[in-house]
Amino acid sequence: MSVLTDSHAWRALRQHAEALSQSSLNDLFGFEPQRARQFTAEAAGLFLDYSKQRVDARALELLLGLAQQQDLAGWIRRLFAGDLVNQTEGRAAYHMALRAPRGLRMEVRGHDVVADVHAVLDRMAALAGELRSGAWRGATGRPITDVVNIGIGGSDLGPRMVCRALAAAADGPRTHFVANVDGAQLTQALGRLDPAATLLIITSKTFTTLETMANARAARRWLTDALGEAAVSRHCVAVSTNRAEVEKFGIDAERMYGFWDWVGGRYSLWSSVGLSIMIAVGPARFGELLAGAHAMDQHFRSAPLPANLPVLLGLLGVWNTNFLGAASQVVAPYAQDLEYFVAWLQQLEMESNGKSVNRQGLPVDYATTPAIWGDVGTNSQHAFFQMLHQGSAVHPVDFILPTGGGEALPEQHRMLIANCLAQSAALMRGKPAIQVRGELQAQGLQGDALEAAIPHRVFSGNRPSNTILLPRLDAFHLGALLALYEHRTFVQSVIWNINAFDQWGVELGKQLAQSVLGAMHGGDAAALDASTRALLARL
Ligand code: F6P
Repeated sequence: MSVLTDSHAWRALRQHAEALSQSSLNDLFGFEPQRARQFTAEAAGLFLDYSKQRVDARALELLLGLAQQQDLAGWIRRLFAGDLVNQTEGRAAYHMALRAPRGLRMEVRGHDVVADVHAVLDRMAALAGELRSGAWRGATGRPITDVVNIGIGGSDLGPRMVCRALAAAADGPRTHFVANVDGAQLTQALGRLDPAATLLIITSKTFTTLETMANARAARRWLTDALGEAAVSRHCVAVSTNRAEVEKFGIDAERMYGFWDWVGGRYSLWSSVGLSIMIAVGPARFGELLAGAHAMDQHFRSAPLPANLPVLLGLLGVWNTNFLGAASQVVAPYAQDLEYFVAWLQQLEMESNGKSVNRQGLPVDYATTPAIWGDVGTNSQHAFFQMLHQGSAVHPVDFILPTGGGEALPEQHRMLIANCLAQSAALMRGKPAIQVRGELQAQGLQGDALEAAIPHRVFSGNRPSNTILLPRLDAFHLGALLALYEHRTFVQSVIWNINAFDQWGVELGKQLAQSVLGAMHGGDAAALDASTRALLARL
C-alpha cells in the first residue's frame, strides 16, 4: 500500500463510498432536496451543476479533506509563484502568465515574464493586423487569403480547436491545420491553395518534431517551387522556443514568434502558438480569450476550495475514478463549434496525468487519469450513448452547454438544450422495470411477449454527470472553459501526487520510429524486435 492509499483521508473516502453505494442518485435527491441548488458553483461566467454526481455533503467534506492532506492549497500557491513544479524537467508551468494583463508581475527564477509575454503579443498583433488589413503582401504583391499552421500535439490541437470554436467570429484570412506526417493531409490542404496568397506558420516548441519538420520541408518546397527561394520571408513564419533550429530551417529570427520553456506544449495555445487564432479573429478577440482564462486563473487562485470550480471538478473526477471505479470520463459538448474540444482535452489530460509513478518515482497503486473521450451532442446520442445508458460499466459524463447563441435557428437551439438536459436526467433517473411494464401494457403488450420485452427496456440510472453552462460560446467564456479544464488537470495531479507537466511516455515511440526508419533506408535492423522485423520484411 502506498502512503496515499493507506492515508486516513483515502480510507475514509473508501468507506464512505461503500456506504453511499446503498443510495442511488434518486435517493440522494429524496434525502437532500436542496442539492440541485446546493451542489452548484459559478466562476468567470461559467456555471457548474454537480448535483447529479454520486456525492453527498459528507463525501464532499472528505474529498476536501483529501485535498488538504495532499496540500492542494500549497500546490496552487507554488504553481502561481512560478516554482519549478515540473521537477523532472526543472521547469515552471506558468501558462497563467500568458494570459496575465499587462503590468502584472509574475516571475520565473526572479525574472518578470509578463513584460516578455506582452512584447510577443504586440509583435503577433502587428503581424495579424497587417495580414488582416491586406497591408502584408506576398512575394507577387498579393494579399494573404490563407494561413496554414503546421504543427502537431499542443502545436496543433489548441489553435485548431479555438479557430473552429470561434469560426463564426472569424473575419481574417482563412486558417488551415496540418499535423499528420501522412502526406495526404498536407497534400489535401495545399492542393486547394495558391502559394502566392498563402502564409505558412511552422509551429513547434522544439522545432525538431519529426512530423512537423517533414511537413514544413514539403510545404516550403511547394512554396519555393512556385515562387522561388526569396519568397520564404514573405510566406513563412515560425513559432518556437528554438531560435537556432528556426534559423537553420531558413526563417529569419525577425519572422520568429517565441515562447518559453515554462510553457508546456499542451498549455500553449495562449502563447504565440495561438498566432493562427489571432490572425483569424483579430487581436481584440484573442485578448478576450486570454481575459476569460485569466478570470478563471484568478478564481482558481483565490476562491475557497469548496466553491472553487477547478477544485470541485478535479475532486469529483478523483471520486469517480478512485472510489466509484468509473471506467472512463466522457465529455459531451452540446455545441457543434466545440467539435475539436475533446481532442484538445485528450492531450491535456492524458498526456498530463497518464502516469504510473508518483513525484518521488515510486509506482502508484491507484488509478490515475481515466481515458477521456466523447463527441458533440446530439450526434453522440446516436452513436455511443447507448453504452452510457445501458452498458455494463459506468462512464461519468461532463455535459457542456452554451445556453445562448443559436439565433439563426432558435427552435433548433431549444431542441439542443432540451436534448442535453434530457440526457443527464435519463442517466440519473433511469427507468425501472415497473415503469417499463406499465408503458408496455398501455401499448397492449402482455404475456410472454411482455416479459421478454421488459429487461431490454430497463435503464439502471444512477449514472453520474456534471453540467457546465456557458452563457454563450464567445472568446471570453471559451477561454474560461479551457482554463477550467487545465486547472482541473492540475488538481487531479496533486491528489495523485504525480507530475502533470512532463511527458516522457511519448519518447520511446519517437526513438523507435527513428530506428525503424533507419532500417527502411537499409540500416541495421538487428536491434529491432522479431515482430517489427517480420512486419518490415512483409512491407
Ligand atoms: O507528443 C509529444 C509532444 O512533445 C507534445 O507534448 C507536444 O505538444 C508535441 O509533441 C509537439 O511538440 P513540438 O511543439 O516541440 O513540435
